[in-house]
Amino acid sequence: MHGYDAVRPLLFQLPAETAHGTVHTVLEAIQGTPVERLLDAHYGVDDAKLTVSAFDQSFPNPVGVAAGFDKNAQIPSALASLGFGHVEIGGVTADAQDGNPKPRMFRLREDEGIINRMGFNNHGADRIGARMATQSLPDIPIGANIGKSKATPLESAEEDYLYSYERVSAHADYFVVNVSSPNTPGLRELQNRENLERILTTLQDAGASPLLVKLSPDLPESATEEALDLVTELGLDGVIATNTTIDRPNTLRSQYRKEDGGLSGRPIQSRATEMIRFAAERVDVPVVGVGGVFTAEDAYRKIRAGAHVIQLYTGLVYRGPAVARDINEGLLELLDRDGFDSVEDAIGADLD
Ligand code: FNR
Repeated sequence: MHGYDAVRPLLFQLPAETAHGTVHTVLEAIQGTPVERLLDAHYGVDDAKLTVSAFDQSFPNPVGVAAGFDKNAQIPSALASLGFGHVEIGGVTADAQDGNPKPRMFRLREDEGIINRMGFNNHGADRIGARMATQSLPDIPIGANIGKSKATPLESAEEDYLYSYERVSAHADYFVVNVSSPNTPGLRELQNRENLERILTTLQDAGASPLLVKLSPDLPESATEEALDLVTELGLDGVIATNTTIDRPNTLRSQYRKEDGGLSGRPIQSRATEMIRFAAERVDVPVVGVGGVFTAEDAYRKIRAGAHVIQLYTGLVYRGPAVARDINEGLLELLDRDGFDSVEDAIGADLD
């Protein structure tokens, strides 16, 4: 039996956030020990066909950990040893925050989804920046996902983003303006042109590069177009599509489907892929694809729709530590089957 098949039922007995905490604790204990090398040997897939270059970064493979899994930059190296090709830490906010009251994370097992309303619980930019400065970071691109502190009014949001950026700038390889989490009141209003422009230009003036923006799947098409046009106008380096949705497809079966928060995983898979395609058709910069990736086929579809690299969170919860290896090995087979020489060759293959 596959190891995670035995462990998952035990983890799934626990409330979702407790299970996450347990996994986190194990990965923290492993980090920096010789076990990392064993994991790397077990889970790493080393093949030049998997390498992707995007926004001046070289990704050893296209499968990354999405923001929210390592909010405080405590386990980037342990995650790298599971075969991931990049890790996006955060969301980091200027203030240290407790987030919303628990429970605030729910597994929708029948739907292979998660609803979360964490509310940017994190140690704050000062502590996270200091932690990144003192630990040995893995040799893969590390992104910093930056959100807004709850107490900061929307009008001065740019100061909050700037504060966090300055604390992590020396230690991350790319920076993400997250204006798309549904759990900080008003945050998603920052996706409108005027607000977004203020935040992005403030960070650009401070030297933030490569700079990406992460969008919500709930934006109406015209607002998505506006945000994407701004990406081009300001010369941003990439787009991440997508964050979680507040929409509740009527196909959901889990008892938790009515919980407030952002839905992720299988139920947002095709919506996220559509948005990747929409973005890839409209901008010339790389798109990072995220939303409902569990298998190599899921990743491949997003790559063919225009994603340069993909990320996942919910897939790690449901598929366990072998998820990156399984996807990377599966991608090599799919590339072979379809006559592509490399992942880079397949990017955007389904676009007109
Ligand atoms: C997230 N996600 C997220 N995104 C972000 O930009 N900043 C954040 O702090 C968080 N936090 C967070 C916490 C939890 C518990 C979950 C489940 C998700 C969203 C995440 O990065 C990703 O965009 C979505 O979850 C969709 O991908 P998956 O989960 O379907 O692979």
